[in-house]
Amino acid sequence: MRHDRILMAPSILSADFACLGDGIAAVEAAGADYIHVDVMDGHFVPNLTIGPPVISALKKVTRVPLDVHLMIDNVDATLPWYLDAGADAVTVHVEAVTHLHRVLRSIRDAGASPGVSVNPATPIGLIGEVLSEVDMVLIMSVNPGFGGQSFIDSSVRKVAELAEFCDAEGVSPLIQVDGGITGETIGRCVQAGARCFVAGNAVFGQPDPGAAMHAIRSAGERALSEIS
Ligand code: DX5
Ligand code: ZN
Repeated sequence: MRHDRILMAPSILSADFACLGDGIAAVEAAGADYIHVDVMDGHFVPNLTIGPPVISALKKVTRVPLDVHLMIDNVDATLPWYLDAGADAVTVHVEAVTHLHRVLRSIRDAGASPGVSVNPATPIGLIGEVLSEVDMVLIMSVNPGFGGQSFIDSSVRKVAELAEFCDAEGVSPLIQVDGGITGETIGRCVQAGARCFVAGNAVFGQPDPGAAMHAIRSAGERALSEIS
């Protein structure tokens, strides 16, 4: 599959949890490609966010696909909760899953889109055996757990390494980057081969989330036009 568009996945982690529906409506109207939902368990990452009941509720208020990023231990046992709640895409961490191949197959078998993620300190080689099983690879460009952190520059090299690895393997998962994405950082990631971008603080931390998302996408599109 060729990925020749910039896809935006605004993260509701930085939205006002008291009125999530309003935040989602704003980015849906501005053309969000996914709604990125950060699930944290207080074990795999030092923060606790939302779970299956909230995902079910969100599913009822938007037609935009829910891109569920599981930052949790025990995925092998709890995965069905998220699939049943209506996740359209489920991304799991290689660092957190024991039977990664089985989990990715289960996501596909349930009719959802499987993704795998690597933390900043995790080498790309660790996901080599499952690249053909996923629709998306998520490169974490911050240490997961919190919104509003600074982009880790070495992530750009990692995106490029992943893109090369995928070419060599003859696979083409969508490359997503998550953490510290802004109009300043997106361009380098696009040049390295990423096409899908999670942005939390740079969207929902702004007075007009729709306009903020549009501006980040435009910066990504400018970078894309320079290389194509
Ligand atoms: C971090 C989450 C991110 C987070 C990104 O652990 O996975 O999705 O919301 O937030 P920003 O864009 O503020 O770095
Ligand atoms: Zn995330």
